[in-house]
Amino acid sequence: MNLGVGRVSEELLREGETVLLWHSETDSVLLPLRSGPHSVPGRGVVDLAAVIGKPPGEVYRWAGANFRVLRPSLGDRLAALRRKAQIVTPKDAAQMLFLAGVLPGARIAEAGSGSGWLTVVLACSVGAAGRVRSYDRRPEFLDFARANVVAAGYGERVEFEERDVAASGFDQSDFDAILLDLPEPWEVVGKCRDALRLGGGLATYTPTYNQLERTVRALRESGFHHIVSEELLLRTLEVGEGGTRPAFEMLGHTGFLTGARWMGPSW
Ligand SMILES: C[S@@+](CC[C@H](N)C(=O)[O-])C[C@H]1O[C@@H](n2cnc3c(N)ncnc32)[C@H](O)[C@@H]1O
Repeated sequence: MNLGVGRVSEELLREGETVLLWHSETDSVLLPLRSGPHSVPGRGVVDLAAVIGKPPGEVYRWAGANFRVLRPSLGDRLAALRRKAQIVTPKDAAQMLFLAGVLPGARIAEAGSGSGWLTVVLACSVGAAGRVRSYDRRPEFLDFARANVVAAGYGERVEFEERDVAASGFDQSDFDAILLDLPEPWEVVGKCRDALRLGGGLATYTPTYNQLERTVRALRESGFHHIVSEELLLRTLEVGEGGTRPAFEMLGHTGFLTGARWMGPSW
């Protein structure tokens, strides 16, 4: 059944794109699709030449096991990343997209890059036509985040820039949305106002109440509108016939989310 024209899931696998080799729920690997033998750390040599130009779902025989070659989901891409700084978890990242109004094709700024987890979510959300400009004041985090973004297959959608945005603001303007995950967002909020297009959205992530209060005070003083703060608690359900219940353990706290919009100076 054809549900739409040009569905990406139906496109043939292209050399250079990132694919998931899936054997089971506990055994899969994310790889760039390249022809010729390549060494995969801890796994041996792979040569995917035979699946280039084939539809997703091909079975590839490797190291005595069958792997299905698929286009990865966002979850597959995130699962393959390494961590350095505290990351924004998927539940919070998803809501930050909503609060900031991130859309396909958008031009987004983010600070700081950290481990690049939120960057990967942003790069996925803006699509091939969108761009993410990711700022961090520490080069080692930029390098780390860049490696994660490239491993996730989104290297072409993200530009990294070494910059202290609290001290120097943003080097570009007219962004559709800005997302902040850094310790002192209230130092940056006024600079976001200058870098957003009219109607653009801002989302901040703050782990503590006092950071949240200072951020919201800065947003009000800077003339932002539609300011809303939220906390998301995620509870997994254990589903069993006749015994479905919440899991006993849950992550009690991640961070507080704030969204706001820049609607221009008051008149
Ligand atoms: C918690 S990490 C961000 C994690 C990231 N959102 C993720 O999901 O992987 C915070 C980052 O903000 C950077 N940072 C802190 N203050 C900054 C500033 N004024 N300008 C630019 N980057 C800043 C830090 O160097 C650090 O890498």
